Amino acid sequence: MSTDAFRRLFGHDPDGEWAAPGRVNLIGEHTDYNDGFVLPIALPHATRVTARRRDDGLLRLHSTRTEGDPVELSVDELAPGGVPGWAVYPASVVWTLRRAGHEVGGADLHIASDVPSGAGLSSSAALECAVALAYRDLHKLDLDVRELALTAQQAENDFVGVPCGIMDQMASMGCEEGSALLLDTRDLTQRQVPFDLAAAGLRLLVIDTRVKHDLADGAYAQLRAGCEQAAALLGLPALRDLPTGSLTAALDRLPPELALLVRHVVTENDRVREVIGLLDAGRLAAVGPVLTAGHASLRDDFRVSCPETDLAVEVAVAAGALGARMTGGGFGGSVIALVPDGGADGVAAEVVAAFAAAGHTAPRIFSATPSAGARRLG
Ligand code: GLA
Repeated sequence: MSTDAFRRLFGHDPDGEWAAPGRVNLIGEHTDYNDGFVLPIALPHATRVTARRRDDGLLRLHSTRTEGDPVELSVDELAPGGVPGWAVYPASVVWTLRRAGHEVGGADLHIASDVPSGAGLSSSAALECAVALAYRDLHKLDLDVRELALTAQQAENDFVGVPCGIMDQMASMGCEEGSALLLDTRDLTQRQVPFDLAAAGLRLLVIDTRVKHDLADGAYAQLRAGCEQAAALLGLPALRDLPTGSLTAALDRLPPELALLVRHVVTENDRVREVIGLLDAGRLAAVGPVLTAGHASLRDDFRVSCPETDLAVEVAVAAGALGARMTGGGFGGSVIALVPDGGADGVAAEVVAAFAAAGHTAPRIFSATPSAGARRLG
């Protein structure tokens, strides 16, 4: 936001501006809270926070997405469940930093974002990470990217109340332009994996089905609890510890509902390894069928897809996409499709037509390139 606009809103100049992006995950879905592997890229879409430090304990928040005066909160009085609406996300980060013993006070924060919300593209992680980065700089906190991502995840878990894994926050904080981020969610070791779509003559389409997903609705928590229960029944620290060779025998020992979850997680970790092998071998186009297999697993085993995401995948592949899958937590949200450069418009048109024919709300479709993670802008 311009200095003038900030001054009009808050009565003084900002100290700086920070940005953190949304993400799509290429492969490795519902693996992060099972200590497994994920492979997200950052989107060009980001949340920007213009901020000024305050030393009086007042947190004043304004967003371009809402009308009216800034929301005012006292940092001393922040409590889980006590902050309604979008303000819960920035408040959650401040609360988490203070809980960890950082003596941070208030701030004036202006928030602007072009990350679609409720679309499975990590708009909440983008907001949390942008605020975390701004607070680190404003208060000269000695926190690295990993610690900031963990702060944002704890904020989401303990203040917002969503028991998410670490993928979205690590993606928003740590992705780099031109690369996908291979993350081992057990120890947070990572590798930037070059993902050069243009050089391979490919595009990555993001199809936002406009079916709002809401991770706070309890379904996500149930899936996570199911996975943890299955690991406990198998005597494992986490499902990541079940080798593929032992999968069939393990499934026989589990109730059918849990067996389906386990099969998805184990095969999905294998798909991440397979995609990494292909990318390391420079075979980006060959990744397509692995994505489509990942979707089938999310649809049939993990059961987090919905008619709109299934239709988008089916039509995209029939129209020439090399592969497609839902991305993110599921229950709606977005689909990614890997398409040959020249075929992108045709695939998009077919998906739009199929949604119209089925009576679904028109999807929002754009192409994405791997973009930079959270950063200070000015
Ligand atoms: C959401 C969560 C992530 C991850 C994905 C599914 O995006 O925030 O931690 O679990 O769902 O892969």
